Amino acid sequence: MKMNITMCPPDYFGIDYEINPWMHKKNQPDIVLAKKQWENLKNIFKSIGVNVSELTPQKGCPDMVFVANAGLPINGKFILSNFAFKERMPEVKHFEKFFSEKFEIIKLPKDVKFEGQGDAFFAKGKLFLGYGFRSSKKAKDELKKHLKQGQDIVHLKLKNPNFYHLDTALAYIGDDNFLTVKGAFSEEAEKKLKKEGNIIYLSDDDAKNFAANCIVFERNIILNKASKNLKNTLKKLNFNVIESKTSEFIKSGGSVRCLSLVWQ
Ligand code: ARG
Repeated sequence: MKMNITMCPPDYFGIDYEINPWMHKKNQPDIVLAKKQWENLKNIFKSIGVNVSELTPQKGCPDMVFVANAGLPINGKFILSNFAFKERMPEVKHFEKFFSEKFEIIKLPKDVKFEGQGDAFFAKGKLFLGYGFRSSKKAKDELKKHLKQGQDIVHLKLKNPNFYHLDTALAYIGDDNFLTVKGAFSEEAEKKLKKEGNIIYLSDDDAKNFAANCIVFERNIILNKASKNLKNTLKKLNFNVIESKTSEFIKSGGSVRCLSLVWQ
């Protein structure tokens, strides 16, 4: 199946504010290196046959590179994000303009916070939805209205502020396997997850290196960095492991998956 990824070049990327534990204004990204890393990731996507489109970056939107947070494509519609922090709100109108050319835009009520693919992905015919830090718990009821009848939501509460978006803590890699950050979820969420498939817990180092923030396309898995152990595990599962360094984006709390908005 064809896969589309929208990305946004890091022209205005920087740590202008601190809204997650990874961000420190004193620890600015090397912007030349950030651009190289971003281009490299884009070229990797293209080389494996992903269709990449680009958004125009905007001054005053340093986090716009993290396009995963633009919204969530659902059955031909696009649920536009409602950011939790005012710092990211200026991005919304640019996301709306871009995605309205491809999808029917759905806006959520103002009081319902939702950060798009940062907190939501489809797997196994279900919607996996995270909440606790950025997206509100009640986003579930709103999203349900746009799912196909009978389509389930696996609602997962996040509890570790370092893994504040679902896509930093969990990835479905196919064949019932999930990469998961230990301790990222509430006890109840952990129980729910275990019912959904086989949980592969990341080591602390792999978790900190954002291994859960990966993109899977066909037999390729693209991630910032994987330990020897994780590489072996993934190779045994028949994956071609592709490392694409994102050190500069991790300074802002994001990696491969956050830099990509995936749609069919
Ligand atoms: N600095 C950004 C923020 O805190 C990082 C967003 C990462 N995106 C993601 N999908 N996890 O909002």
